[in-house]
Parts: sequence; structure tokens; C-alpha cells
Amino acid sequence: MLYSSTCMACHGSGVVAAGYAPDLRASSVPLSEELFKQIVHNGLLLEQGMPTYGELTDAQLDELRHFIRARARASIRPQGTSRDHGTNP
Ligand code: HEC
Repeated sequence: MLYSSTCMACHGSGVVAAGYAPDLRASSVPLSEELFKQIVHNGLLLEQGMPTYGELTDAQLDELRHFIRARARASIRPQGTSRDHGTNP
């Protein structure tokens, strides 16, 4: 999974913040396809410490966005009722 291999080191396991980078579950950025691409693909936050992944395709960016949003939805449900299709790390 792209997220666990690429983003997890900084954004934490299962998108729970690891202290350095923001908790993406609480971010509104993944709601916007355009802004997410600006940051992750085009390096909008490069000076703030967020690397740029210009090699990612639109399909991969979509996959990441949907993964993060699914985790955000799962986190607001009571324990044990979330269905995340086996994407747990
Ligand atoms: C080297 C550590 C690092 C890695 C790896 C990393 N990030 Fe980040 N990311 C950051 C930091 C630090 C910020 C905060 C920048 C700031 O202060 O505005 C950030 C910010 C973001 C934001 C904006 C959040 C917001 O609400 O402002 C998004 C979205 C994001 N990262 C997605 C990703 C994705 C997707 C990946 C994997 C493809 C990834 N990041 C990999 C360090 C990292």
C-alpha cells in the first residue's frame, strides 16, 4: 500500500499523527482533489517539510485521498463497527 510505504513514516500509522507531521484525518486537504495534488504532487508545502511526489499518477493520488478519507470516517465510528476492507496496517 502506497500510504504505508511512503507517507506513514511522517504521518503516522493508520493516519494517526506521529507528532511531526499533521494528523491527516483532521485535515480538510484530502477533501480537495486539486489542493491535495498541489501539496503531494507539486510540492506546495515543500518549505514546511512536506516532500513532493511528482511521480505519482492521478490514480495513485486518488487512491491515497480515498484511503485517508476512509480512515477519517472509520475514526468517528464506535470501535468495532468500521469496515475498512482490510486496509489496516
Ligand atoms: C518527510 C516527512 C513526510 C512524508 C514522508 C510525508 N509528509 Fe505530508 N507533511 C509533512 C509535514 C511536515 C507536513 C506539514 C507541512 C506544514 O507545516 O504545512 C505535511 C503536510 C501534508 C498535508 C497537508 C495537511 C494539512 O492539513 O495542511 C498533506 C495532505 C500531506 N502531507 C500528505 C502526504 C502524503 C499523501 C504523503 C505520502 C505520499 C506524505 N504526506 C508524506 C511531512 C511528510
